[in-house]
Amino acid sequence: MKTKTIKSISSLKKIIKTIKLSNKSIGFVPTMGYLHEGHLSLIRASKKENDITIVSIYVNPTQFGANEDFNIYPRDYKRDYLLINQLNVNYLFYPNNEIMYPIGYSTFVDVDNYNKILEGEFRPTHFRGVTTIVAKLLNITQPTIMYLGQKDAQQAFILTKMCQDLNFDCKIKIMPIIRDENGLALSSRNVRLNKDDYQLALQLNKTLKLGKELFLKNHSITTDKLLNACQNYIKKFDKISVDYIACRSVKKFDEIPKITEKCYLLIAAKVGNVRLIDNIILG
Ligand code: PAF
Repeated sequence: MKTKTIKSISSLKKIIKTIKLSNKSIGFVPTMGYLHEGHLSLIRASKKENDITIVSIYVNPTQFGANEDFNIYPRDYKRDYLLINQLNVNYLFYPNNEIMYPIGYSTFVDVDNYNKILEGEFRPTHFRGVTTIVAKLLNITQPTIMYLGQKDAQQAFILTKMCQDLNFDCKIKIMPIIRDENGLALSSRNVRLNKDDYQLALQLNKTLKLGKELFLKNHSITTDKLLNACQNYIKKFDKISVDYIACRSVKKFDEIPKITEKCYLLIAAKVGNVRLIDNIILG
């Protein structure tokens, strides 16, 4: 069966109603399109674990700051549709701005505290946009499970918190980062890296790996020491402008003096004019 593209909220809601009546499970993969193997891994997991899979493609304007890359964010509906159809996705939700944010739209969802640190420090309105659009998408699609990628670890944490705090009736599964053959974490933004910047971008993952090696050599290393070593390594590349390198617990996303529990080692940096993020799990 071909994937059905749905552009209107009311049509999709009708379909969801009948799916719910037949007690079928719904897997939902929210995306901004320009799909890569990372997205496809989420879709495959959803196909495996649910009766019905819904993918959304929507480049959400409210999660981009005024000077960010909303206008040049890569978009290619035809290419994305072919990929989604090959994976036998049941429905593709593909709304436009007038539908998602009609004139007069005025409600926003914010997850306090976690939205102002790390990514939030450099992109102050980003998470407000993410939580708002995902809350809307969850209300429309009512999934049993929503699939998110670990590459956006802070986003996944914040969305999990939002679902708990607002009593959304859906589970969240965070799927591992998919990397290319040289270790670069897949991202739709990677297409904007030129050859030289691509080589430089590989240093993000190398920095995280260095951090992991230090931890594996000495489990009681302080977080400060580990982060300093990572900073010192990456600062050799003057064309990479690091926003942050940080360590946060997986459970609570808080700072820890030593790695006594599972935590993310996270990095965000600008390479050329492309901003990239990556992380690795320690502990
Ligand atoms: O991770 C993304 O692609 C976006 O932030 C999401 C979750 C689809 C919301 O627009």
